[in-house]
Amino acid sequence: MSLSPERDREFDFTTKHFATVRDELYDYAGIVLADHKQDMAYNRLVRLLRDLKLNSFDDYLAFLDQNPAEFTQFINALTTNLTAFYREKHHFDFIRDHIIPEIVNSGERRIRGWSAGCSLGEEPYSLAMTLLDAGVDPLRWDLRLLATDIDSKVLQSAQSGVYAYERVKTLPKSLLSRWFLKGKGKRDGHVKVRSELQDMITFKYLNLMQDWPVQGPLDFIFCRNVMIYFDQDTQARLLQRMAALLKPNGYLFVGHSEALARHASSFQLVGKTIYRKCE
Ligand SMILES: C[S@@+](CC[C@H](N)C(=O)[O-])C[C@H]1O[C@@H](n2cnc3c(N)ncnc32)[C@H](O)[C@@H]1O
Repeated sequence: MSLSPERDREFDFTTKHFATVRDELYDYAGIVLADHKQDMAYNRLVRLLRDLKLNSFDDYLAFLDQNPAEFTQFINALTTNLTAFYREKHHFDFIRDHIIPEIVNSGERRIRGWSAGCSLGEEPYSLAMTLLDAGVDPLRWDLRLLATDIDSKVLQSAQSGVYAYERVKTLPKSLLSRWFLKGKGKRDGHVKVRSELQDMITFKYLNLMQDWPVQGPLDFIFCRNVMIYFDQDTQARLLQRMAALLKPNGYLFVGHSEALARHASSFQLVGKTIYRKCE
């Protein structure tokens, strides 16, 4: 049975094809594809079929089965990577106004943060700018940010630190001139983040469904707009694992539409979508 027989699709995409795609994605990445995402799945995967010069989804799924390397493209195609610099700015203000003063008062000069599901890198670079703009001196402090994602393509782009000007044009001018270099010639219309920011961040491939080679204890974890794609059991498991990595009173930041109330027994809500690990 075709999913949308009323629509003219270049390739037949049946409920069986969709079920296979959905199961593969869930088993590997924990991402739940609801039934209404069938069109989205088709539109994203059809490009891969064309690139591979295949003639049907049967052929594509068989090819995927026999070519583990192609699985990376499959995952990259199905992740949703929407992000922005200083998305939900109040989270960055909270770091400046609460977390840094708390660490300073404790006498420590060490900060460890993790951007889990960092996408194209705007989130970890915004974290790095927040720390440095707040006066945390990388020469006198031990600063490390880890930025991870399951999508190897966005990770590569994040690591390069190059962005279309469009993506930064609404940032305050002072921030732009302090932290971004304007591209010239071939790079016209682009900016590149300054190396001081890149030096603070380690970008790594990490599937949240697998082992986390992450060294704690962490001061904060940003896992924003990622768990929204997972089911309740997966979310509960991840929250427990994140709590174990945070230091006592460490912070977890989630996305604006992610309510953790039911699973957050290890956390206390201390701000809008900001949680503190209970001691
Ligand atoms: C919508 S983006 C959110 C980006 C950023 N955190 C923000 O809020 O702006 C979600 C990211 O989570 C990543 N992701 C999805 N499933 C994942 C998994 N199982 N392990 C690691 N990252 C995952 C996606 O590749 C994507 O880049």
